[in-house]
Amino acid sequence: MKIVKDPRKVNSIIKEVKLKGKSIGFVPTMGALHEGHLSLIRQAHKENDFTVVSIFVNPMQFGPKEDLKKYPRLIQNDLMLCKKDNVDLVFLPDSKNLYPPEFGTFVKVKGLSDCLCAKSRPMHFQGVTTVITKLFNIVCPDVAYFGQKDAQQAIIIKRLSEDLNFPVKISMLETVRAKDGLALSSRNAYLSKSQRQDALVLSQALKLAKKMIDRGETVSKKIISSMRRLIQQNKSAKIDYVEIVDFNNLRPVKKISGKCLIVLAVWIGKIRLIDNIIVGTVLKHG
Ligand code: PAF
Repeated sequence: MKIVKDPRKVNSIIKEVKLKGKSIGFVPTMGALHEGHLSLIRQAHKENDFTVVSIFVNPMQFGPKEDLKKYPRLIQNDLMLCKKDNVDLVFLPDSKNLYPPEFGTFVKVKGLSDCLCAKSRPMHFQGVTTVITKLFNIVCPDVAYFGQKDAQQAIIIKRLSEDLNFPVKISMLETVRAKDGLALSSRNAYLSKSQRQDALVLSQALKLAKKMIDRGETVSKKIISSMRRLIQQNKSAKIDYVEIVDFNNLRPVKKISGKCLIVLAVWIGKIRLIDNIIVGTVLKHG
């Protein structure tokens, strides 16, 4: 497994790999890898000839009061996991490489980057789409893999790739959950034992929504009210948002018809967690 810091070196390795007619599967990450990331890496390995993982805690996607400094960094463990899962190249840039002092170009996807999580994290998605643009230009992947837990991010990146003609397929894979339903996230590492228990309200609220829909409820307002009531019963949970939106344009829908996302963000103490489910259609890998 190659570990490379220099973007130009990565780019020249990729060119050689492509000259041999090999396909590149890419999993961009911020490290602190868990089973969610590993499921993306395994799928990338299964579907491509050469698997690249990037590990970079991207300062541009953190707001001034967010957790950039304390974001978990577990690089040795991450490298060990990548090796075990047959990653061919780990791209480990540092901030100086990616954002030299003269850096001045930002990429923003309008509309999709202004709703849901953007309401409390206004610059977040611009940071994501800027770094992903750079990473796509360096790694030139055939397929890039993202988790459904960050569905808004995956949908924005799909729009970005189409709008800017990146010759890459964006693959969104199902959220990996702990046995009790909690969606895996690097930020779960911040939760105390009791907060870990409180955090179950997110998946419980989504389960409740699914149950209502299975019983024939289609009115978003009613589903959202029931979800909010359930979450509010937990004194440690503070709702950021609960919404039901169209899967493609992320606009709120009054009634569920076609592919929709039920999305929520909830504060458990000082930790903001997100989760979602897709309704109206069954998600297949790829
Ligand atoms: O989901 C993440 O870990 C990050 O937002 C990403 C896509 C690696 C961009 O920094």
